[in-house]
Amino acid sequence: MSTTYKHWKIITDDENITWLHFDKADSSTNVLSHEVMDELETELNNLNQKPPGAVVFLSDKKNGFIAGADVNEFSQLETEHVALTLIQRGQHIMNMIERLPCPTVALIHGFCLGGGFELALACRFRIADNDPKTKIGLPEIKLGIHPGFGGAVRSIRTAGPIAAMNLMLTGRAISARAAKKMGLIHYAIPKRHLIAAARSVIKKAPPAHKIVWWARLANHKLARPWVKKILIKQVAKKAHRAHYPAPYALIDLWECYADDEQRFMEEEAISVSQLMVTKTAQNLIRVFSLQEKMKNYSHLKDYQPKHIHVIGGGVMGGDIAAWCALQGYSVTIQDREHATLARVIKRAYKLYKKKLKKRLPITEALDRLVPDINGNGLKQADVVIEAIFEDAEVKRQLFKEVEPQVKADCIIATNTSSIPLEELAPVLNDSSRLVGLHFFNPVAMMPLVEIVRGKTTSDETMQRAASVTKSIRRLPLPVSSSPGFLVNRILMPYLMEAVVLAEEGVPLKAIDQAATEFGMPMGPIELADTVGLDICLKVAENLSQTMDIGVPERLRNLVNKKQLGKKTDQGFYVFKKGKPVKPALAKDYTPPTDLADRLILRLVNEAVACLRDGVVDSSDMIDAGVIFGTGFAPFRGGPMCYANSRGIEQLIKLLENLDSRYGNRFKPDDGWTELIKENAESA
Ligand code: NAI
Repeated sequence: MSTTYKHWKIITDDENITWLHFDKADSSTNVLSHEVMDELETELNNLNQKPPGAVVFLSDKKNGFIAGADVNEFSQLETEHVALTLIQRGQHIMNMIERLPCPTVALIHGFCLGGGFELALACRFRIADNDPKTKIGLPEIKLGIHPGFGGAVRSIRTAGPIAAMNLMLTGRAISARAAKKMGLIHYAIPKRHLIAAARSVIKKAPPAHKIVWWARLANHKLARPWVKKILIKQVAKKAHRAHYPAPYALIDLWECYADDEQRFMEEEAISVSQLMVTKTAQNLIRVFSLQEKMKNYSHLKDYQPKHIHVIGGGVMGGDIAAWCALQGYSVTIQDREHATLARVIKRAYKLYKKKLKKRLPITEALDRLVPDINGNGLKQADVVIEAIFEDAEVKRQLFKEVEPQVKADCIIATNTSSIPLEELAPVLNDSSRLVGLHFFNPVAMMPLVEIVRGKTTSDETMQRAASVTKSIRRLPLPVSSSPGFLVNRILMPYLMEAVVLAEEGVPLKAIDQAATEFGMPMGPIELADTVGLDICLKVAENLSQTMDIGVPERLRNLVNKKQLGKKTDQGFYVFKKGKPVKPALAKDYTPPTDLADRLILRLVNEAVACLRDGVVDSSDMIDAGVIFGTGFAPFRGGPMCYANSRGIEQLIKLLENLDSRYGNRFKPDDGWTELIKENAESA
């Protein structure tokens, strides 16, 4: 017997097991939208009236079970009341699943996140595919909220407070094996056995997971205040309460209501609905949507490159090659020196050990990364990525040699951070295939890649470059070939202002603190030391040819003295074991009141200039680029969003004031006037 809804297909088999196949229409991923939940509620009512022998939830999508609630719907919630209604309805549906008078099973493969895992937790049994692609988690904290469909209560009940809080507070996604170990699922097995395993647990229930005594003890009302203190200490290292209230709210909830599940559930809904309408959550939800938009930039469906050839095995080329091989590509890495190639493999091994842990996948990844001193890989390459010295003439010479050796449809990418593509394109016969793929350092940690369009770059090449970027799990940001592209151009004025402040005698620690209190992950002085002062100087000098950026003497002096930052253990700071030693501030020290504004407004002013120059096509993409390329406080939604929330007129006045006191590097960009006009038109 079967019933078909728009998003669900319900089949009851000969053994009286009802299989709820979820396959969200018009979408490659299953999410719990309003319509999906409506249909589910209808079906649950049917099942309740005429219960089958068992109910199994499974997904017909290739990429996974359920990726979560529909985040787009979150961004339209205007009041706390509307949010509460949505959350309570979700809870009601999960409770209906939990109360079905028959065994219920969730069969998990691929993504099983947020609301998706909350649904699985409402089932009596959970069985997951043990493939590395299976990702289980409650990542709501990353959107400025916490689980709301009963997931907080049920994950704590299932795995104990320590494991469950750890999962929810970090928002990390774990493998099926890790979830099994934590007691969150019953079995982690190969996909081909999932159906048989479902039938088996229906017949014979597996024993319930035993939470260890000390984890149970942590839930006791006398222990909770102590555990709470530890949890808060851990959270505070990563997220300021004023900036990210959600983890603190979750800890409070657990401490207050862990003894009363019913009340905990009610308060969970209230807390999430309050968080949902905060600026933090709305900004983080928007950032999430921007990320999805970037991933969808490339529309190519049939483009499937297989081989990537990287030239230049230095800091960048070596890490780009290692990363591409980690993501499954066959990669050749070319350099002039054997010793450099040996270092690339050594670094790659370290990365693979950290990421893959097990011997077989590490060996397989290393097998995909082939040192290639003679450039033999060029002939089979679908993509060539050049990452040699930052010298236009040397790069031109290389391209002349490379082009005749590659396939006609191979794209040629450069990782240059400052050379306009127009200076490189003329040496190619077919310059429509030249594109910039500007990775950030360190490659394994920075999610953004700027896709640089030169005057002759074709649409097809842009699309291909973006498609490759997405396939290596990086976010493509199309930018025009102008000095500094987007990220370096916006970042540099901010870093240079920090150095000017240091020259004026403001203590380094106070400068960094002003930025981290604003929400930056790292202060600008520490960031400059980490990137390398030589690189900062080079980029700043390059940019100063076209913009009034000002390169402070103190930066030049440090580079002349070879005090380059972290890599030489001495820059602005002295580094011990890779960490900067920051001299404490005097007890009576008070920082200048305009300190944070001087740093942040130079960055924001430059962001406005980039929009005016059309470096990217929208203020959304400026926000996305600056967040993913520099770590700009995500809860503030990016520089343009921040400017709007602080008030454009007010910021212009502030900039004029700073201009009169510190010089015309603060002069409000002409783009502000355009922005005011645009905002007035769209109001
Ligand atoms: P690097 O100096 O560490 O490495 C350059 C490598 O290229 C060296 O190993 C050298 O032996 C090799 N090489 C030079 N000419 C070659 C040739 N003709 N054939 C084969 N190999 C050759 O440089 P790094 O820092 O990796 O930079 C490479 C490129 O990436 C530059 O264009 C730079 O602007 C860009 N970039 C650098 C970033 C950074 O943070 N270092 C960030 C983003 C882009």
